[in-house]
Amino acid sequence: MSISSKVKESIERSSWIRKMFEEGARLIQEHGESNVFDFSLGNPDLDPPDSFYDIMAELASDKTNGIHGYMPNAGFPDVRETIAKRVSAVHDVHLQQEHIIMSCGAAGGLNVVMKTILNEGEEVIVPRPFFVEYSFYIDNHGGNIVLVDTKSDFSLNMDTIERALSEKTKAVLINSPNNPTGRVYSEQEIRSLADLLNRHSSEIGHPVYLISDEPYREIVYEGRAVPSILKQYHQSIIVTSYSKKLSLAGERIGYIAVNSSCVDSDDLIAGLILSNRILGFVNAPAIMQRLVARLEGTMVAVDVYKKRRDLLAEGLRSAGYDFAEPQGAFYLFCKSPEEDDVAFVRHLQKYNILVVPGKGFGGPGYFRIAYCVSEDIIERALPRFREALESWQG
Ligand SMILES: Cc1ncc(COP(=O)(O)O)c(C=O)c1O
Repeated sequence: MSISSKVKESIERSSWIRKMFEEGARLIQEHGESNVFDFSLGNPDLDPPDSFYDIMAELASDKTNGIHGYMPNAGFPDVRETIAKRVSAVHDVHLQQEHIIMSCGAAGGLNVVMKTILNEGEEVIVPRPFFVEYSFYIDNHGGNIVLVDTKSDFSLNMDTIERALSEKTKAVLINSPNNPTGRVYSEQEIRSLADLLNRHSSEIGHPVYLISDEPYREIVYEGRAVPSILKQYHQSIIVTSYSKKLSLAGERIGYIAVNSSCVDSDDLIAGLILSNRILGFVNAPAIMQRLVARLEGTMVAVDVYKKRRDLLAEGLRSAGYDFAEPQGAFYLFCKSPEEDDVAFVRHLQKYNILVVPGKGFGGPGYFRIAYCVSEDIIERALPRFREALESWQG
């Protein structure tokens, strides 16, 4: 075999994603694009804010010598300074420039964190359902993912987390607002988790990291705020990006924010910077760093996502579907009327509806609807969702 057996196996494991793409392409060929309702991808469809285009034009015409060259691996100091101030204000903490490391999106940031903290065979606890790429990011750096169940409303279950904690636990990785459930963890859940990790850390004699993956932090509804892990737990790291809040997913820009009170924070920061370099990212894209610093505090129109959520939730509820109302992000995790979610997803395809089986997120018996699509698509898809459920029952 010419490629590694591990990569070969990973390709096979993630082949359902490819199959969805293929099925989508086939349906579009057969029925035309406007008659296929594709809710399978978390690719934000809203345009970036207007100011993005103005600043981008200005940055693109800057001919200052060296402006596109290498820089410190952690990113431009002034950009990191601006972000540190912003994070400090939002989280009510005191971070300095050195606590911010610019990354190639949240995905790049998570890989940098995992490479930095994991020894071979150490464990990262992840509540499920979860963003499935985590299993690759952890495995990439020799770690083992340990999945734990959440409660029926997808809130954190302290019992399952406590049972999973061991000598080998290096970190707990949470994601709020959550992909695929849209759940936002409460202040109380974060506090209980922090208490649990503090207790476990003293028992095993070394601190367990709490890592929060927060690319959807600003996409929340009903005036919710995502509680800060930095406020609640010393050994904490936030990984985030501008992929969703500014609709810049293709531009690969984000950052890691390290709690200033982490034990060995100098080592941690030095490790993150080295990992960013030796994983081959070298540094986050220069022009995007300058751009996001100027756009701090700006974001896409969340009310548009909320309107879509309301439309979708109302339509699905009245059609008889069962789900927990999403509190943030742009995903709705719906209960499949049949335990075999893949079978129901295939049934939906007969109605030209593309969604992703919950099985792919460690949440069998559900399917994920990504509503980062136009209201028109949602409106025209709803009668089909209804028909699909009726014909399934009948
Ligand atoms: C939960 C979660 N984490 C990380 C990412 C990766 O984000 P980025 O595109 O910023 O790397 C995604 C992308 O969909 C996501 O849903």
